[in-house]
Amino acid sequence: MEILGIDIGGSGIKGALVDIDTGSLTAERFRIPTPEPSKPPVVAKVVAEIAQHFDWHGPIGCGFPAPIHAGVAETAANIHKKWIGTNVAALFSDATGCPVYVINDADAAGLAEMSFGAGRGRMGVVMIVTIGTGLGTALFNNGLLLPNTELGHLEINGADAELRAADAARKRDKLSWKKWGKRFNEYLQRLEHLFWPDLFILGGGACKQFDQFRDQLTVRAEVVPAQLLNEAGIVGAALAAKTYLAES
Ligand code: BGC
Repeated sequence: MEILGIDIGGSGIKGALVDIDTGSLTAERFRIPTPEPSKPPVVAKVVAEIAQHFDWHGPIGCGFPAPIHAGVAETAANIHKKWIGTNVAALFSDATGCPVYVINDADAAGLAEMSFGAGRGRMGVVMIVTIGTGLGTALFNNGLLLPNTELGHLEINGADAELRAADAARKRDKLSWKKWGKRFNEYLQRLEHLFWPDLFILGGGACKQFDQFRDQLTVRAEVVPAQLLNEAGIVGAALAAKTYLAES
């Protein structure tokens, strides 16, 4: 079965058709830069453009960078503040004419890694951390997701963790991978001291450079890069749509 997966990011909006039985993309990914300012109506237009690109009329799963309750965005750290309280699912459904399920972007990436990637078959506590414009987290116990964990906003030394340790912070402060790796390690240590996961899976754009910073990581838990790399968000959003649109 195919579903269109879309990942709304701080810098790009990406879509692809996903075979949800295998977790693979059945058509090449299509990316449009996130409009600036990223207000709801312009982003909805981009989502409609992606659906048109694939000539898609079926269900859509969409990963969105905010905690999501019943389709509604609750906060907006890396996207326009106008999203707060917006029913993202209804907006994108209207724009595309398709049924749309919306899920937090890190939760989507986590679902994909647990089903088809580095977390496949892993029991115990697994935490996925996506490293991009922000820091996203997804927490699983014995394969079950606790949604909307938002641990990128833990306060470390009086500041929001993602402002110091996300990939955007590395670029902003022009840090070497080694220097940034030390900062990111502080963040992982904090997560470890609160949740004691068995496994950390690192996703998002920065995970492609895992070899450049792995030596800086000193946590007790096993740490591995995501296997679906930055396709995880698209694949997981499609998976979520399959599960939850069928239930609604
Ligand atoms: C948002 C999260 C999101 C993460 C990664 C954070 O700023 O609050 O909801 O998962 O960025 O995009």
